Amino acid sequence: MNSISLKVGLIGFGTVGEGFYRLIQRLDYPHLQIKKIIVNDHNKERSLPSSNFSFNTDSVLNDPEIDLIIEAITDTNQAFHILKKALRNGKHVITASKKMVALYLSEIIDLQKETGQKVLYEAAVCGAIPVLQNLNNYFFYDKIKAVKGVFNGTANFILTQLEEGFSFEKALHQAQQKGLAEADPSSDIDGFDTQYKLVIAASHLFGEIVKPESVLRFGIRQLLPQDQLFSTKKGWKIRLIAEARFGDVPLVMPVLVSQNEYAYNLQGEDNFVELESESSGLQYLQGKGAGAFPTAQAILGDVEQLRMKEFYHYKNGASTERQKEAQKIEVYLRSPSSDIGHFFSEVYHRDYESGYYVTLGKIKVLDLKGIEPEKIAFIARLPKHDQIRNKESNEAQPGVFSPA
Ligand SMILES: NC(=O)c1ccc[n+]([C@@H]2O[C@H](COP(=O)([O-])OP(=O)(O)OC[C@H]3O[C@@H](n4cnc5c(N)ncnc54)[C@H](OP(=O)(O)O)[C@@H]3O)[C@@H](O)[C@H]2O)c1
Repeated sequence: MNSISLKVGLIGFGTVGEGFYRLIQRLDYPHLQIKKIIVNDHNKERSLPSSNFSFNTDSVLNDPEIDLIIEAITDTNQAFHILKKALRNGKHVITASKKMVALYLSEIIDLQKETGQKVLYEAAVCGAIPVLQNLNNYFFYDKIKAVKGVFNGTANFILTQLEEGFSFEKALHQAQQKGLAEADPSSDIDGFDTQYKLVIAASHLFGEIVKPESVLRFGIRQLLPQDQLFSTKKGWKIRLIAEARFGDVPLVMPVLVSQNEYAYNLQGEDNFVELESESSGLQYLQGKGAGAFPTAQAILGDVEQLRMKEFYHYKNGASTERQKEAQKIEVYLRSPSSDIGHFFSEVYHRDYESGYYVTLGKIKVLDLKGIEPEKIAFIARLPKHDQIRNKESNEAQPGVFSPA
C-alpha cells in the first residue's frame, strides 16, 4: 500500500460519507484520493457532478487500484456483503456501520485472519470520541474493569428537553427537526443504537465477543411526566446509560443520576464515555457522538491508524454469555401490573398512582430478564449512594402489593 496516495472507494454519500468527503477537502488531506463514490438513488440531486458517482459497488470492489473501502451506508446486510468482498479482494475496510459490526464482529475477526486485510470502525462507537483507539493502544496493558456512558446523543437531547418541561412528543419532534433523530426513532429511544455501540466497546474491552442478545436493554420510549417528576423532586436527572462491567451482564437502561455523577451535567446531544481501570482509576471522554464532521473525523483517525499500521488487537476473541446469577441492581420500576413485587429481593418503597404501581427496590438482573416486557412500563436504575434505601427499607415489605 502506497502511504502517500491511498486510493479509496467511498460507499455512501449521506451524512457520514459526504461529511468525510468535505473534511478531507477542507483539510486538503494529502494521503488519500477518492477514486469513486458509490450511492444508491439514481434520482437524488448531488452536490458534486454526476461523474463522481457510480451505482455499482462492484466497480470499486473489483478495482485492483483501490486499496481501501470506506463504507457508510445504512443497510446492514449490504454493508457486511461489501466488507466481506472487499477483504477477499485484498482491500482494507473502514466502516461506520455500528449495527453491522455489532452483529458480525466474530465473522469480521475471522475474515481479517483469513485475508490478512484490516477493518477499522472507530466511527461506529460514539462518533469523534476515540473509544476504540484508547482501549486498543493507551489502555492495552491496564486492566479495564468497566466501560460506561451515554452513547446516544438523540436520547440525551430528548431527556434534557424533558427537564425543560417539554413533552416527550415535542422533544422527539425537536430532535427530528435538528436532524438528530430518524423518522423512525426506535434505534435511539429504544436503546438499540446504544446496545450496538456497547457490544463493540465491551468486546474490545474484555477481549471476548459480546453478543447483542446478551445485553439487557431498556429504552426511554415509555417515560411519562410522572417519572420525570419523581426524578426532579429527588434532585436527580434521567440518563440513558450503557454499562459493561467485567463479569456482569452488560446493561443499557435509563439511570437516575444524582448531582455527584458525571452524567448529571451532560446536556443536549453530547456523549460521554467513562473507563474504569485498575491503574488509572476513572477516566472520562466527552464530546460529539454523531454528525457529519465528528463521524468523519473518526474515519480520518482510522485512515491514519491504517497508514501507521496500527490495527485492533483482539485479545482472545472467545465468545461469552454473561449470566452472573447473583448480580442485583437497584431500580425504580413503574408497572401497570401488581404482579411484579415478588420479583424484588428487597423493596425500599412502593406506591400506587394513576393506574401504575411504582416500586423502588433491589432486583436480580436475571429475574428482570424473566419479566414479560409488557409488565414493565418504565424502569430506571437508582443513583448510587442515595439515602432512600436507609430511610424507607424498614417500612416496606417485599411481595405483591395492593393499591394504596
Ligand atoms: N449519521 C451519523 O451521525 C452517524 C454516526 C456514526 C455512524 N453512523 C453510521 O454510518 C452509516 C451511514 O449513516 P448516514 O447517517 O450517513 O446515512 P445516510 O445519510 O442515510 O446516508 C446513507 C448513504 O448510503 C447510500 N446507500 C444506501 N444503501 C446503499 C447501497 N446498497 N449501496 C450503495 N450506497 C447505498 C445512500 O445513497 P443515496 O445517497 O443514493 O440515498 C446514502 O448516500 C450508518 O450505518 C450509520 O449507523 C452514522
